[in-house]
Amino acid sequence: MWPDKKMGRRLLFQQLKQLSADSILGLMAKYRADASSVKVDLGVGVYRDLSGNTPVLACVRRAEQAVLAAQTTKSYVAAAGREEFNSAVEEMVLGSAHAARRDRRARTVQTPGGCGALRVGAELIRAAAPAVTVHVSDPTWGNHTPLLGGAGLRLERYPYYDPAAHQLRFDAMLDRLDHAAEGDVVLIHACCHNPTGADLDPAQWQALAQLLTRRRLVPFLDLAYQGFAVDLDADTAGVRLVAEQVPEALIAISFSKNLGLYRERAGALIVIGENQTRADASLSHVLQIARSIYSMPPDHGAAIAAHIFANPMLKSEWLAELAAMRTRIADMRALLAQQLRRATGAGTFDFIRAQRGMFSLLGVSAQAVERLREKHHIYMLSDSRMNLAGIMPHNAAYVADSIEYAEHLA
Ligand SMILES: Cc1ncc(COP(=O)(O)O)c(C=O)c1O
Repeated sequence: MWPDKKMGRRLLFQQLKQLSADSILGLMAKYRADASSVKVDLGVGVYRDLSGNTPVLACVRRAEQAVLAAQTTKSYVAAAGREEFNSAVEEMVLGSAHAARRDRRARTVQTPGGCGALRVGAELIRAAAPAVTVHVSDPTWGNHTPLLGGAGLRLERYPYYDPAAHQLRFDAMLDRLDHAAEGDVVLIHACCHNPTGADLDPAQWQALAQLLTRRRLVPFLDLAYQGFAVDLDADTAGVRLVAEQVPEALIAISFSKNLGLYRERAGALIVIGENQTRADASLSHVLQIARSIYSMPPDHGAAIAAHIFANPMLKSEWLAELAAMRTRIADMRALLAQQLRRATGAGTFDFIRAQRGMFSLLGVSAQAVERLREKHHIYMLSDSRMNLAGIMPHNAAYVADSIEYAEHLA
């Protein structure tokens, strides 16, 4: 026994209780341990190609070689990351003619992935207004709560989607936000809502932008799937519209999915201030926050991304690869919806075809989800979130038949 313990002194970690495993990691482990040849992984949130791989994009491979060949040092870059990455990202997200850029009210820093941007943004909000409430959609991506709540911010949920009716609760959403306190922050998924796949239409974005302006609420836009719905420009239409109309906004950006750079942790945070002075002051806080958490963002992924953005040949290769990922997911949505129509004899699941991005909530009971996993070897999150990139032409009919069967029994 350690001497401290013998003397009755408590050790530092003695008080820590074992936490339960993250539910997605637990699901992954169960999937790996499943020996069935028909097993289907609709759980983990990564893109998969027709062979079930999460590929390194060809444009990334090429850019990576060029980056490594040109690299002469591993010395530090900066707390804000790469300048050329930041300016290219800002233009890609806001567009070249955006008012916030024209008025020089936007400041962009490279972050460790979208999660890094969300956390740095949350710390900035806390530094500016510790008592503020952040309103997040119900449901939302599971990691929003620890990322924002972990910074000490109070979170509340606003109605967003009805999983049983498979539709947005837009009126209820506006009604709830209309009662939020002035100065509160509203976290909004920019496109390809995770986990529902249900996005606002242009008129709804307009109504939301008006409400945010009228009620003086601050949008925190989470852009993790740019290019997965329609294309790079169209997928930021809501972000651009909102950011045109409000004096202040935050935008968290991830290149994990659209460049397949997951583990390289390439992301960015854009902060828009009411004027240049406020934007500069906010930037100074962002840089201090970055220094106090991780000092500098990892360079490799951002160097690859910046190389692709600056090179027209590589950029067009990226756009083609991005379109191929988007099309494959849309095709699988259509195929699964068609197979579900065949299996159930009804159009209950047609919503899957119309939704966007990688995820949809199937909207079945927890028992049906469990039955799908235990009896049919089909793995999805317990709230019935499915990753459509796990659907393949060879498994769509099996998945549809199993859903019909499991739902019937549950
Ligand atoms: C809604 C949403 N926001 C942000 C992220 C952040 O991703 P990352 O930190 O891997 O770039 C993700 C990733 O799954 C996401 O789904």
